[in-house]
Amino acid sequence: METVLSGIRPTGNLHLGNYFGALSNFVEMQNHHNCYFFIADFHSLTTHPTPGDLHGNVRQVLVEYLAAGLDPEKSTLYIQSEVPEVAELYLYLNMNAYIGELERCTSFKDKIRQQPQNVNAGLLTYPTLMAADILIHRANKVPVGKDQEQHLEMTRQFGNRFNRMYNVDYFPEPQAFNFGKELVKIPGLNGTGKMGKSEGEGNAIFLSDEPEVIRKKVMKAVTDGGPTIQNQEKPDVIQNIFQLMKVVSAPETYNFFDEMYNTCQIRYGDMKKQLAVDMIAFTEPMREKIKAISADEKYVSNAARIGREKAHESAAKTIREVREIIGFKPF
Ligand code: TYM
Repeated sequence: METVLSGIRPTGNLHLGNYFGALSNFVEMQNHHNCYFFIADFHSLTTHPTPGDLHGNVRQVLVEYLAAGLDPEKSTLYIQSEVPEVAELYLYLNMNAYIGELERCTSFKDKIRQQPQNVNAGLLTYPTLMAADILIHRANKVPVGKDQEQHLEMTRQFGNRFNRMYNVDYFPEPQAFNFGKELVKIPGLNGTGKMGKSEGEGNAIFLSDEPEVIRKKVMKAVTDGGPTIQNQEKPDVIQNIFQLMKVVSAPETYNFFDEMYNTCQIRYGDMKKQLAVDMIAFTEPMREKIKAISADEKYVSNAARIGREKAHESAAKTIREVREIIGFKPF
């Protein structure tokens, strides 16, 4: 049986990008694989959240994982900071991670641009912490969006280097994985290439958004003046809307509007109305569950407790073995 692992930083509510990048079909997955899903709250410290925000956001992601269908009995759902073995493995991996390769990482370069006042060492070593998350359970498959591809490549690098250094075949090579065929990058609604929490007003559709909010955001989505030549290539902003339709709407709906575009008969207003209807229908079951689960304190804390115990057991085993490989021995 393969081990599947995925994580989400607790920086706010989950959006459709998170869902299609890391979660779609995971309900099915948890029936056939050994699945770990966690909340990367150590990672979120790189942007210095306040204690109040941190706890609330961790709880929100926990609730939303459960609402999206994660079964805490079948999968292991846990909070990264409750499994301190992760931090220990991070320490070991940092000894074999080189400054040059960390500095070349695209996400580090992006962060330097985004927060020049806070270029901390945690940002630089973000990929080693992510590698520790994955290697601590010796995961084979990592469901992620396209933006995490380079981090996965670095994880393989660090795992292989550890194996070579100690002449063992201990860590497997984890592969990035999407439940569809290819890794996805879900675009935003405001013309930006990526749906994300910090990509500006109206960019993201959150799983918890009320129908009216979704409708407003979708109707405001950026479009252009419309095609003038048959089968004209779609500009990026139009591609975005079509791509969003592809993930939430029926294939016939997508094909219909595609045909309308190709024959220059498209009315973007109609397309957006349909997209909003389909997004509302898609998120509906989760929206209701988010409210119900959020109100059930006992269920939430019980889920966190079960997950903590299962994750701890697996992580402690890895740390015991890694310590032995490195050469730490009790006296
Ligand atoms: P984060 O919190 O930014 O995003 C969580 C997951 O959602 C995916 N995602 C997207 N996928 C497609 N289109 C989008 N627009 C989109 N936006 C977000 C991300 O690719 C990710 O899969 N470093 C990670 C968290 C992490 C992790 C891990 C993931 C820490 N340790 C170990 C996997 C394994 C991050 O910041 O994701």
